[in-house]
Parts: sequence; C-alpha cells; structure tokens
Amino acid sequence: AAQLKGKDFLALVDYTAEEIEYLIHYGIELKRKQKAREPHAVLAGKTLGMIFEKSSTRTRVSFEVGMYQLGGQALFLSKNDLQLGRGETVWDTAQTLSRYLDGIMIRTYEHRKVIDLARGATVPVINGLTDHAHPCQVMADYQTVLEKKGRLKGIKVAYIGDGNNMVHSLMMGASKLGMDFAIASPEGYEAGKEVIRQSKENAAETGGSLLVTRDPREAIENADIIYTDVWASMGQEDEQKEREIAFKNFQVNEALVKYAKQDYLFMHCLPAHRGEEVSEGVIDGAHSIIFDQAENRLHAQKAIMAATMI
Ligand code: CP
Ligand code: NVA
Repeated sequence: AAQLKGKDFLALVDYTAEEIEYLIHYGIELKRKQKAREPHAVLAGKTLGMIFEKSSTRTRVSFEVGMYQLGGQALFLSKNDLQLGRGETVWDTAQTLSRYLDGIMIRTYEHRKVIDLARGATVPVINGLTDHAHPCQVMADYQTVLEKKGRLKGIKVAYIGDGNNMVHSLMMGASKLGMDFAIASPEGYEAGKEVIRQSKENAAETGGSLLVTRDPREAIENADIIYTDVWASMGQEDEQKEREIAFKNFQVNEALVKYAKQDYLFMHCLPAHRGEEVSEGVIDGAHSIIFDQAENRLHAQKAIMAATMI
C-alpha cells in the first residue's frame, strides 16, 4: 500500500499491472472484512470531499458509505453549491479544499478538469467519471470477473456499443492485465484512437489482445464477458434520437449472446436502458451479474481510498 500513498487515481493508464492487481486483491480483502464485521477503520479521522457535476446513484452512495466504513467521513459537494459553479478557478478550489480534506473525488465532464484539479491539489484526487474515463467502475468490474471466473488473464471481454468513457477504461485495464478484449461500435462512435493505440501496445506486452470491429457478432465470438453501456451518456441526452438509429444493430439480446461462450456473464455499469442497449431477457437473465458489479464499487473504492489516502 505504501507506494500508492498520495497517488492520484485519474485513469488506469497511470497504473501498472502490479498496482491494479494489488488494488483488486485489496478490494477482495476489504470485502471479506466487511462481511465478517472485522474492523478496518484505516482512514479514521480522515475526510473525502466529493464534487459532483453530474448525477449519480452508485458512485455517490458507495464512496460515502465506503468512507464511513473506513472510519472517515465524506462530504457531498454539489457543483451548484460550490463557488466552482460561479467561476472560482479549479486551481483555487484545489488549493483550498486540500487545506481541509485528505482526498477529493470528482465527477465531471472534461477529463482535463480532473487533471488540473489533481495538479492544484496536494491531496490525492480520484476520478469518479469523466467523459473520457471511469476507472473506479473498472476496478469493481475486474474484481467481479476475478471472483466469478477465478482469473483475469486469458478471459475474453466483448464490449458492444458506444466508444465512451466506460470502454476506454475497460480496454486500458484489460490490456494491462493480459486479457483479451474486443469492441464493436458503429461508424462515428468509435473509442478514442489514442486509447486504442496504447491498449494495443500494452496487450502486445502482456499477452492480451485487442480486436476493434464494427461487427457485434465478430466481437462477441467466444466471449467470457459481454459488456455494454447506454447509447447516450450523461451530457449527450439531446443526441438520443440519432443514436437510437446509429446503434440499432448493437443491442445485446438473445440472438447475439448465442455467439458467446455458454457460460458467458453479462455486465453493465448501470444505469441501463432495457430494450435499448440490452434486452430485458439478457440483463435480467441468469447470466447477468450487474448487481455484483454495483456492490463491488463499494469494496473496490475502499481499496483505492485506503491505499492512496492512508
Ligand atoms: N455506474 C455508475 O457510475 O453509476 P452512477 O452514475 O449511479 O454513479
Ligand atoms: N457512459 C455512462 C456511464 C454512466 C455510469 C455515462 O457517462 O453516462
């Protein structure tokens, strides 16, 4: 844990495979402790500030509860109430908050803002989702895959849909952990070129692989994990109609999952739109592990906070 003390958690690109694996195992250990009611108040007396510029159910509640279970306290800081919303600079906000807090979590639009906040802050900054990345979700997701499948290396993840924040972090994480990853997105909605390039480079080193295609069936072929996300993310609500047309053939449904392994697992970061990116039968079916993922947000983020804010 010592080597992560004080480190920001902004995107998985900044973390080595060893650090990611360490955090996943720490999350599993903290989960065991919490279930056994073993005390683990390693952040007693510490405080996390949580800046939200977008809505949240899971992130807000899991960070707040997680901080409480670690013996500390979390503060919900809505953009509308902070002076940040009235034009106070990110730098001044970061400097000021660092005088009170032991860590800052932020959910916002531009990834740049999170990087700038981290630069201005003297305490660790944790990315609770930007338009570019959602690394906390992926720590919970790969913890869940490890728990269910017993390994990560050699597991094939197929992501069907928008080339967004979710898939950026999923792909980056998979490539570092030596997993096989495939993404199928419609034209015009591809994942970022730079993330693809870096992930390919990582995969070549770790024995993983990365397939980028427009064909959902090709991506899903032989997959252990099928992952999807909403067609219109937060901030893209006005594109909903045009996206419904573009993503029409990208629904994860009974016809498509036939091409995956028989014991495939279905994953979704939530919130979900049943009947759009995924059929009701698949998301509510026997292969779905969406609420295990949601639960693991708590344990995975406790590990991130405990390792960086100690
Ligand atoms: N998956 C996720 O981040 O959920 P919330 O938007 O509810 O926090
Ligand atoms: N891609 C989604 C993820 C929500 C957790 C969004 O950004 O809205």
